[in-house]
Amino acid sequence: MSLIKYPDLGTPASNTGQTVKVEIDGLPTTVKAGDTILRAAREAGVDIPKLCATDSLKPFGSCRLCLVEIEGRKGYPASCTTPIEAGMVIRTQTPALAKLRRNVMELYISDHPLDCLTCSANGDCELQDMAGAVGLREVRYGFEGENHLFEATDDSNPYFSFDPSKCIVCSRCVRACDEVQGTFALTIEGRGFNSKVSASIGEKFLDSECVSCGACIQACPTATLMEKTIIEHGQPEHSVLTTCAYCGVGCSFKADMKGDQVVRMTPHKDGQANHGHSCVKGRFAWGYATHADRVLDPLIRDSIDEPWRKVSWDEAILFSAKRFREIQAKYGRKSVGGITSSRCTNEEVFIVQKLVRAAFGNNNVDTCARVCHSPTGYGLRKTLGESAGTQPFDSVMDADVIIVIGANPTEGHPVFASQMKQRLRQGAKLIVVDPRKIDLVRSPHIQADYHLPLLPGTNVPVINSFAHVIVSEGLTDEPYVAERCDRESYEAWKQCVLKPEYSPENVARIAGVSADDIRGAARLYATAGRGAIYYGLGVTEHSQGSTMVMGMANLAMATGNVGFTGCGVNPLRGQNNVQGSCDMGSFPHELPGYRPVQDDEVRGRFEAMWGVELDAEPGYRIPNMFDAAIAGVYKGMYIQGEDLAQSDPNTQHVEAALGSLECVVVQDLFLNETAKFAHVFLPGTSFLEKDGTFINAERRINRVRPVMKPRQGKAEWLVTQELAQALGYPMSYNSEAEIMDEIAKLTPTFGGVSFKFLDEVGSVQWPCNEEAPMGTPIMHIDNFVRGKGLFVETDYVPTDERTSRKFPLILTTGRTLTQYNVGAQTRRTDNVIWYHEDLLEIHPHDAETRGIKNGERVSLSSRKGEISLEAKITERVQPGVVYTTFHDPATGANVVTTEYSDWATNCPEYKVTAVQVAPAVHRSRWQHEFEERAKSQGKILETT
Ligand code: SF4
Ligand code: SF4
Ligand code: SF4
Ligand code: FES
Repeated sequence: MSLIKYPDLGTPASNTGQTVKVEIDGLPTTVKAGDTILRAAREAGVDIPKLCATDSLKPFGSCRLCLVEIEGRKGYPASCTTPIEAGMVIRTQTPALAKLRRNVMELYISDHPLDCLTCSANGDCELQDMAGAVGLREVRYGFEGENHLFEATDDSNPYFSFDPSKCIVCSRCVRACDEVQGTFALTIEGRGFNSKVSASIGEKFLDSECVSCGACIQACPTATLMEKTIIEHGQPEHSVLTTCAYCGVGCSFKADMKGDQVVRMTPHKDGQANHGHSCVKGRFAWGYATHADRVLDPLIRDSIDEPWRKVSWDEAILFSAKRFREIQAKYGRKSVGGITSSRCTNEEVFIVQKLVRAAFGNNNVDTCARVCHSPTGYGLRKTLGESAGTQPFDSVMDADVIIVIGANPTEGHPVFASQMKQRLRQGAKLIVVDPRKIDLVRSPHIQADYHLPLLPGTNVPVINSFAHVIVSEGLTDEPYVAERCDRESYEAWKQCVLKPEYSPENVARIAGVSADDIRGAARLYATAGRGAIYYGLGVTEHSQGSTMVMGMANLAMATGNVGFTGCGVNPLRGQNNVQGSCDMGSFPHELPGYRPVQDDEVRGRFEAMWGVELDAEPGYRIPNMFDAAIAGVYKGMYIQGEDLAQSDPNTQHVEAALGSLECVVVQDLFLNETAKFAHVFLPGTSFLEKDGTFINAERRINRVRPVMKPRQGKAEWLVTQELAQALGYPMSYNSEAEIMDEIAKLTPTFGGVSFKFLDEVGSVQWPCNEEAPMGTPIMHIDNFVRGKGLFVETDYVPTDERTSRKFPLILTTGRTLTQYNVGAQTRRTDNVIWYHEDLLEIHPHDAETRGIKNGERVSLSSRKGEISLEAKITERVQPGVVYTTFHDPATGANVVTTEYSDWATNCPEYKVTAVQVAPAVHRSRWQHEFEERAKSQGKILETT
């Protein structure tokens, strides 16, 4: 299959699983029952001309190009809207049909600019193809009459343009926005000759509801909607299949290339996580890879007050190794450690944790998943026996009721949100449990059945109250529990949730929601059929994060909602490879595959393969590293692709810890905030330069393929390998594929995985091994991985972070659609057009009582620190709660967050900080100092 241009079968597959016999153009053929004539013919190799039909959208039947003749029927039915039936005798090519089609094309072309040769869609235009296919040779109507040829182009969107002079009003864009994306931003305005595509109500695309997902561009058969990169650089020459490096949806993309230049990212039609859809980040925000800020030379400096010196790779690696060894000689073997990155590939992560374990000789390795989904790993493993989500994304299409807790999928996981919205438009019920009125609560054609705007920090009593209602009203699935779950723990859990403190009335007081809504939502989840829970960091980033994960798993087991399609407990992972970085052994107590370092048998297997004795004692978690650094016993750190200084809570504490280290090695694309404390900077590679794998939120192992050579001259894993060698530990992989082979040998859930296998099958969900050679889409089908499902009592222990007269509001944090985490990538793309700085959302009531006006600067203070930012007055947040994002280091959102963390995993409590908000005139002192420091940092001398 040519990757440049996908075959288009005209209408979606019907998937009835049955066939019928028909005759097409004189040839008897067997086709799939339920398909349209257009699709059936195309599958049989007969290309009926078409324009308004495409196989990603429902049939529409407006262009009249796909007409056919059917024996025994009058007229010329449109093949795209006529279902195929057994025994049909169809003719697709007759003189009458040819004439009709030419007439249709004549009308289109008479109102179309005749600039094919200079048009940016030349060679990739269905109108051009169809003019050829129907044999159009002349246009009898001339071009003199009324037409649309001089309509102005809308260039307002930074990534695509809309040239209405080329529009054939086929509605494919409108339908893509409705059916695929679910934003309903486009309409066809006017009638007849005056009908035209309109964004929102005649607005420019940039000012409209459009979220720049690109689905309309993909659907457009002409050059009307077109990527600006294609207009600038021309049509691609070849394509490489790879995976988005932003969120945990893990969308597959074709990188469309001209030479070694990316000219377009096209969502892969056969991508099993995204089915040809994308969001603005994956499709458009890849320019950071070639941004001028990329550092392409290794840098070193003796102390962090000095300017950086550009050096060779060898010098940087030897310098790092010498420093690490000197530190270990002086402060002990455990005085150094490393952090792996969920933005890097599994192969890169595996090598870093191996470096720490085999070359540093300790288990001081942790990952940025510590600060997002570590409670997911703990909670799901404890209850169900496996630390990952239970379902493939497609499972949502079988759900009857969906609970979204502490997640904002339309902004955080947009492509999955579009799929979920499709299911909701089909009639599935929706329960949203979130302090904010997120878009899903009410958006076009979607209205949540229940929205519980709970106070941040009260997830656990709310889930316990759901359980209270379900147990007390006898809505549990007793046969399921009896067959599959641990009886004793079930009985104990029931007693726990039946306590009066978890009655809806009591929890309503704690959580600030209505008791009736708790009751209604609980009953709906237990009785509506298949119930699916989706959750995000609004669950995990709490001092009770692990408790809440177990609370949801308990509820799903009690209602028989695990082990089938349409249900399950599903973490929406924040970063592209959070799942993989955890799977690869990045936690200080676990080797790859979540196997305890204390287990002699497990450790023995790794020791035999790695040829070195491994430490049996778990190492430091990230917060322990900071504390040990401040205590003076932890002195050196290798940090792979994580901006700890910006992303971790309680910035002043993090900066103090980093500032006390004697060797910080940062491997990243840009000189980030953490690099201000670094002694060595090892330039990293963007996803466009990597060869390897990412694992998405549904445990899907996706291939990442390089489309260009590493811009800084060296693959990242090779740099780590050379550092291990310089430390005296022999590592000698020849390729990323070899690293995956070792992962497969050492990790039972990856036993069947190799690059070769992935290249053959596209992607696979782990476990993938002898028992499951084609992977495991749904977990726990007959039994839970741990045997009997374990109920865990989830009593509510409130956070120690309390509001007070001084700090009466609760701050909670999250992210926006167009930005990604600390913004290092997205702030270096045109996505900044939608985002200038982090804003503070505040309810009108709270704003008014403080004399705050919309758009004014306010100070945000907690017992940890103070920052200032712009206020956005909105009823999306409830009174008493304020909200901000953390995409810009200059805002310093984490200056105010606290040291509190999840009791089981130390995942920071980002979601609950007691704060005060007041009008402000100046930037805060921290921000002023930050700006001063930024001026003096990052200076690079050309040579040593
Ligand atoms: S880019 Fe996406 S959201 Fe915007 S109009 Fe097109 S389909 Fe709709
Ligand atoms: S913009 Fe493209 S897809 Fe939309 S109606 Fe016009 S030609 Fe069809
Ligand atoms: S939904 Fe996530 S993985 Fe998909 S394109 Fe957007 S950022 Fe990338
Ligand atoms: S393709 Fe069938 S009517 Fe347009």
